[in-house]
Amino acid sequence: MNTLFLDALACRNDSRAPVWLMRQAGRYLPEYRKIREKYTFTEMYRHPEIASEVTLQPIQIFGMDAAILFSDILVIPEALGLGLHFKDGVGPIIERPLLTDVDIDSLPKPELAESLSYVTQAIDHLSPQLDVPLIGFCGAPFTVASYMIEGGSSRELKKTKQWMLRNPKSFHRLLKHITTCTIEYLNLQIEAGVSALQIFDSWANALGYAQFRECSLNYLSEIRKGLKNQNIPVILFCRGSSVFLESLAEIMPDGISLDWNINLKKARSVIPETIALQGNLDPDILYAPLHVIRQEVTDLLAAMKNDRGYIFNLGHGIKPDMAVDAVRTLVDSVKNFSR
Ligand code: CP3
Repeated sequence: MNTLFLDALACRNDSRAPVWLMRQAGRYLPEYRKIREKYTFTEMYRHPEIASEVTLQPIQIFGMDAAILFSDILVIPEALGLGLHFKDGVGPIIERPLLTDVDIDSLPKPELAESLSYVTQAIDHLSPQLDVPLIGFCGAPFTVASYMIEGGSSRELKKTKQWMLRNPKSFHRLLKHITTCTIEYLNLQIEAGVSALQIFDSWANALGYAQFRECSLNYLSEIRKGLKNQNIPVILFCRGSSVFLESLAEIMPDGISLDWNINLKKARSVIPETIALQGNLDPDILYAPLHVIRQEVTDLLAAMKNDRGYIFNLGHGIKPDMAVDAVRTLVDSVKNFSR
């Protein structure tokens, strides 16, 4: 078993920095698109064999040091009965978005072990085939709530923020409900055998500083405390993590995944060496010529040289039109960098 990723998460890695990439399994890969021609995205993540195959693809093709389960953060709203499909060229559609307080108060308490059994089955199916750690994941309550209110992706989160500001009590009831479900969901993933967890707060950047602490950080902390096995490391990713860095560190995650706006060394200067740092190459660097990618990767690694808690990643996910060669160049450059 390759333990570089877990060693770095424990801040005791003395070998090269491990590398994995957010959205490493997905549409930029011809091997993914080939399967996707036959199935919808929903069918793919609901089918343990297909989910396993797609999770393994980037590991087999590029040799990343960790795998991330092929699924989506929106399986929670789906389990809450809001209806979910993914529309090509548009993104996720929540079929019955929340419109009033009554909708929040009538959300069910779903039997997640049942409704999300395909996730634990995928983990069961995958585990024996992996020689790298498997990362389970979920969305942060604020980000998941935003999809449930907006009905899909939205640039401004106008409805979500209006709800938060005009009716904070019911907004917090919603966050609390999602938090309870999320804790149960992550505990199911832990029991099924994931080695680490990442929580995605993709829309945290829409929040002001105090709003972030109140509407996101509190719930991230609750999730952290609610995990049955406290030895499974947890990484927090926010778009906005560079701004909320010190707040994130307060709740003592095992790792913080940084967006690309901050200088990594500067981030390390305010984050204790007991918290791993992950990131933070601008994903768009993958559009640059290969020699630029090599240089940018080397610059980040040189800045974090001898840091025992550093994990190489992008500041956000790979985009569907990024080149396979660019991803390969990135991964090879990390692996060939000598400390
Ligand atoms: O490789 C991996 O990272 C593992 C799988 C994974 C997916 N979604 C697969 C996916 C993970 C970790 C996610 C998380 C996710 N999903 C987030 C948080 C991370 C982030 O990018 O900010 C969010 C906000 C979502 C919601 C979501 N799912 C959106 C907005 C979309 C459409 C646009 C897009 O980014 O692709 C999806 C669909 C989705 N999730 C696809 C994949 C592979 C595309 C499915 C397809 O059409 O083939």
